[in-house]
Amino acid sequence: MYPTQYFHSIDSTNIKAKEIAERGAMSGSAIVAKYQTSGRGRLGKEWHSAEGKGLYCSIIVRPDLVLEDYPKITLVAGLSVALVLDRITGGSSQLKWPNDIYFSGKKLAGILTESSTMTCGLDERYAVVGIGVNVNNALDDFPLEIRSLVTSILIETTTELAVEDLFQDIRAELLKQLRKFSVGGFGPLLAQWRKKDFLFGRKMECVSAEGKKVQGVALGPDNQGQLHVKDRDGKIHAVLSGDVRLATS
Ligand code: BTN
Repeated sequence: MYPTQYFHSIDSTNIKAKEIAERGAMSGSAIVAKYQTSGRGRLGKEWHSAEGKGLYCSIIVRPDLVLEDYPKITLVAGLSVALVLDRITGGSSQLKWPNDIYFSGKKLAGILTESSTMTCGLDERYAVVGIGVNVNNALDDFPLEIRSLVTSILIETTTELAVEDLFQDIRAELLKQLRKFSVGGFGPLLAQWRKKDFLFGRKMECVSAEGKKVQGVALGPDNQGQLHVKDRDGKIHAVLSGDVRLATS
């Protein structure tokens, strides 16, 4: 059994998880809340946390990986969540690089991974994997401006789900996939990830690793976890992080 702290309300489960990780919490420890007052997404965006409707959790992991492999944890976490969702719903989720889980073309879950400082020693190294899943949300539980972009397990399956069970399944899957990563390398996980690639072959816009705006066709992540995009001159750009959106034309 891994330690889990439950909160009714919290600012952000990631903030609390980082606090306990800094104090040495073991791998697999987690923070779960029914409501977040400052739920955070990537790139400083807000994660809307409808009270009691979604899963809001942060799992501390200390995988046996070299530092260069840490950015790939987000991809492994997305794959883990997607595998659990497919099992539960009988459906087929997709992964939008780097951190979104899609169902029926809409966002159902997101991951925000935050790691310990690069300088800390091997024993102190950790990542906090923050996971938000829209579980029992009806469409009107979401802010008006995002309703056309999001979905939930309830909307997809018309069935309510026990959020606690979902959390336990996701934590077990994440730890299992990270063990596979440290034993067998990233390759087999990347192959599974690529089968679910939402962006593959689509026209998109993003910012390259050199800070340039790029328009092109998504070719999927490479074995470093970086997204490759082919522009219209055939040049391939690697994207390390940042905002990735489908092109409007
Ligand atoms: C994204 O899609 O941009 C990532 C969203 C991550 C949201 C989760 S909810 C639990 C954890 N705590 C946070 O403040 N954020 C993550």
